[in-house]
Amino acid sequence: MSNENAAGRYAREVAWTDLLRGIVGIASEDRPLRSVLRQTARLVVAATRADACFVHVVDHDAREVVLMGATPDEFDELAGTIRLAFGEGVAGWVAQSGRPAVVDDKWSDPRYRYIPALRGEDFMSLVSVPLLRPHGVVVGVLNVHAHEAGHFAKDIVARLEEVASLLAGIVEAALLHERLRTREEELERFAVRTIEMQEMDRRRIAGDIHDGISQRLVSAWYHLRAAGSLTTEDAVRAELRSVEALLSGALDEARQAITGLRPSILDDLGLTAAINSLAANAGDFGVELDLQECDLPAHVETSVYRITQEALQNVIKHAGASRVELGLHAAGDGGVVLTVRDDGVGFDPPSAGGPLSFGLSGMQERASLLGATLRVQSGPGQGTTLTLHLPPSALSQAPGSSNAPGSSHASGSRLQL
Ligand SMILES: Nc1ncnc2c1ncn2[C@@H]1O[C@H](COP(=O)(O)OP(=O)(O)O)[C@@H](O)[C@H]1O
Ligand SMILES: [Mg+2]
Repeated sequence: MSNENAAGRYAREVAWTDLLRGIVGIASEDRPLRSVLRQTARLVVAATRADACFVHVVDHDAREVVLMGATPDEFDELAGTIRLAFGEGVAGWVAQSGRPAVVDDKWSDPRYRYIPALRGEDFMSLVSVPLLRPHGVVVGVLNVHAHEAGHFAKDIVARLEEVASLLAGIVEAALLHERLRTREEELERFAVRTIEMQEMDRRRIAGDIHDGISQRLVSAWYHLRAAGSLTTEDAVRAELRSVEALLSGALDEARQAITGLRPSILDDLGLTAAINSLAANAGDFGVELDLQECDLPAHVETSVYRITQEALQNVIKHAGASRVELGLHAAGDGGVVLTVRDDGVGFDPPSAGGPLSFGLSGMQERASLLGATLRVQSGPGQGTTLTLHLPPSALSQAPGSSNAPGSSHASGSRLQL
């Protein structure tokens, strides 16, 4: 055994110790996940005298590994953009099998998958180890690449597995932390959305009171005053009949404004029955219903109900239709679609971004508060079709109210750090 070899071995031991110490240091610094992974990749390359290191994080929901940190820096910039399905490429194979892989010449390894952005042609050999938690869940994959074939010594796997098990704990904790933060942000957004919805309801009620109830009360007052100066009984009776009609109209509108907040029928019977009842009271045109039971959160039900109600009101008031089709269905993307189609006179819908009248703007506002889209297709003589598309993200319960069991790994939305 030469002195040089002994010195070389000593230097290697020091480098490994530095690596482990470095990772422990990073773990205690409370850095964001991306920074932990980038720094770890640098330390691993230094300790293994390799040329590149990629750290992939497992997205269990999508059954994919996502590149989240790398060295050199040009690869680190690709974080979040490179995804491999379980079983795809060496990293995908390691994530799926939970076993390490040493590849001396990757061009002759069938598991290898060429990704141009990662410049596979520059690296011949690689070693890949899973970031394995003690409970057996793979939370990531560490890939170390070298320019020349057969770069990695036999003992490298055991060494990297030590590093990987340290890193696995850090990654898992960081992912849980990210999840908590996302949930907190969602909660904040939800609170803002709720307040905006309340504001909108207040504006609507103020509008109803101002345009309908107050106007009728003022007219009733004028009729009563006029009645006081009339001399014939018939004339007084006629004024009182007008007053009675106005007051009963005002009473109806007041009732509508009150039930308008959260129609009790939604709580009592559910959304499809509530829409059925809207259709039953719609008017003299025939309504063809095709409603699928959809399990929607309460605030979404209220908005879908309101939009249907306004759409039907518009058909009654403006369309002169003979037939209306009303549909509620699960959409192909996992969301839900509501359609209200009439065969009436149609109109030129206001152009996108232009000013909207109260009813149409209220529907648009409701849709956008939910993260949904509302399309109004119409034209003179062509009838009108209104389509509300609620994507899956709009159908989530109030964040934090989900009772789905939490898993120990990242779950929920796709990893986008
Ligand atoms: N289904 C429809 N058929 C024909 N015209 C419609 C229809 N829906 C809306 N409109 C037209 O769009 C205008 C704006 O509608 P909206 O914003 O609901 O206000 P409002 O109903 O108070 O007039 C209506 O005045 C009407 O001219
Ligand atoms: Mg209207």
